[in-house]
This record gives sequence, structure tokens and C-alpha cells, in this order.
Amino acid sequence: MSAAPLVVLVGPMGVGKSTVGQLLAERLGVSYRDTDDDIVAEQGRSIAEIFVEEGESAFRAIEKQAVHRALAEHTGILALGGGAILDADTRAALAGLRVVYLSMDVEEAVKRTGLNAARPLLAVNPRKQWRELMEARRHLYEEIATAVVATDGRTPEEVTQVALDALELKEA
Ligand code: S3P
Repeated sequence: MSAAPLVVLVGPMGVGKSTVGQLLAERLGVSYRDTDDDIVAEQGRSIAEIFVEEGESAFRAIEKQAVHRALAEHTGILALGGGAILDADTRAALAGLRVVYLSMDVEEAVKRTGLNAARPLLAVNPRKQWRELMEARRHLYEEIATAVVATDGRTPEEVTQVALDALELKEA
């Protein structure tokens, strides 16, 4: 049997998956891995560059491979890029795992990601883009989540604590 992550973090860009993921990893005494970082390392270019040079569907194919590899290899905390759950095979591969959906509302999202050019999907009219993204994705996040943790008005440490409580995992 292949390895499986202890916890998978999903949720929209900018919600704090990497920050919370690293805090969770520390608290649980395991390692942290992020599929966006894997893609950048493997491709030798930024995610924004992949979007511009090859388009979103090519990026999604690269992402799918990276996610499936990480799911098979990693035993710690794994954060997925915000759009990874658009893929039905990826959602199927998450079945049976502990999946935490970090959520936030639109105002928080615009505050956190609105002016961030590194996030190609929100580069133009972030509030409208965000609404459309979440309308398309919210039900997918909810479908695969075993716990939903709202991040609005919470520090990363507070979010981490709420996630730990929800998961009922023993700390290191
Ligand atoms: C994306 C989220 C990003 C990154 C890419 C596309 C999305 O990851 O994979 O820009 O479709 O929501 P983060 O959620 O880690 O920012």
C-alpha cells in the first residue's frame, strides 16, 4: 500500500493553507508539503509563468500529476493548490483521507489576495473573479472535506487550533 498524508488542506488561494499547514505540521511533529512548491521546483518556473506560457488547462494537467505523486509519497501535512479539486480523479483520490477545507468570505479574500500579481486567476477585478471561482468550487470543497474551518477574523495560530480540535489528532 502506498503512503497517505496525515492531513490534506484544501481551500481557495490566499486562505492560509501554507501558513496553517506548516503550523499544523509543527504541532503534529510531521513534515509539510505543498503541491504548488512541487510544481515550481519540478518545472523550474513560477505558476504565473506556466499559466501565461501554456494556459490553464496545461497547468491543471501538470498539477494533477503533482497532486497524485504527493498523495502517494507524503505522510505529513499536504496543502493542495486552490484549483486542484476541480479534477474528479483528484477528488476521488481524496476519499477516505482527512481533508480540511479552510474557508473565508469574499471581503477577507480580496483583502488577502486582491493585489497579488502572483495569483493569475485574481489579477483582474478580484472581487468578481473570487465570487465566480467560489460559486464554481464551494460545493467541491464541501463535498471532499471531513472538516471545514472558517479563517475569517482568526490568526493562523487560532485556525490551526480549531483544525486540531476538529481532527482530534494527538500532538507530538
Ligand atoms: C489556483 C491556486 C494557486 C495556484 C494557481 C491556481 C487556483 O494555489 O495553484 O495559481 O486555481 O485556485 P494556492 O491556492 O496555493 O494559491
